[in-house]
Amino acid sequence: MTAAGPAVRLTGATRRFGDRTAVDAVDLTIHQGERVALLGPSGAGKSTLLALLNASLRPTSGTVEVLGADLATLTGPALRVVQRRVGTIGQRLDLVDQVRVLHNVNAGRLGRWSTGRSLLALALPRPDPVVVSALEAVGLGWAVHERTERLSGGERQRVAIARLLVQDPELVLADEPVSSLDPSRASEVLGLLRAATPDGTLVVSLHQPELARRHCTRAIGLQQGRVVLDRPADELDDALLAELYALT
Ligand SMILES: Nc1ncnc2c1ncn2[C@@H]1O[C@H](COP(=O)(O)OP(=O)(O)OP(=O)(O)O)[C@@H](O)[C@H]1O
Ligand SMILES: [Mg+2]
Repeated sequence: MTAAGPAVRLTGATRRFGDRTAVDAVDLTIHQGERVALLGPSGAGKSTLLALLNASLRPTSGTVEVLGADLATLTGPALRVVQRRVGTIGQRLDLVDQVRVLHNVNAGRLGRWSTGRSLLALALPRPDPVVVSALEAVGLGWAVHERTERLSGGERQRVAIARLLVQDPELVLADEPVSSLDPSRASEVLGLLRAATPDGTLVVSLHQPELARRHCTRAIGLQQGRVVLDRPADELDDALLAELYALT
């Protein structure tokens, strides 16, 4: 079901850790096809918000609806059906170092495959064309058979993006995917993330306003768990950012 409704709808979404409120009563709707830059100072709640959107964290209160499903009401297989439609690239990338690159990329669709087929894929010496073309798309066609641990940081990041391409998600969540890259590499990676969901929705946390302006349609600023800025990305200017990042 590709719901005609919003990709994401948060209603009073709150996440606490002990007496710390990381996400504080957030009401937010993100429509399908929007590309959202999440901005805000360290500790503002960006990673926590992204974790609520892929159900790796549950809200303490409020609701989190993603692709038409209320995540709090789902468990087990029903939750995995939604999670399969959501591609996440976290700061840690979550690659298995000891296996060949093709197996990490193939993991993008294991959710859709039976256990038998997945095991067969691990055993087969020859990668299938979907995996190869995803690796080619990120400029790593040569690395199909490399052991993942041999790759550089930037190359590993591309492997994680190739895994997303294979997953073909409707919603991509990326937590600071370009924080360690030089500006031209960073822009390229954002382009690849957009390609991972050409008609879908992208939510990406970033600290570079120029990248938000170039690659995103909407900018959302968080401060202390609250949405304090929400406007078209091309309206971001230095004054708004200075205010958003000002130490309070
Ligand atoms: N697992 C956790 N346990 C306790 N506190 C947490 C946990 N995760 C986040 N927090 C707290 O919640 C607040 C928001 O953290 P979060 O990681 O979401 O911020 P962020 O905007 O992603 O920051 P950064 O830009 O540094 O990555 C912080 O005060 C943080 O210390
Ligand atoms: Mg973070």
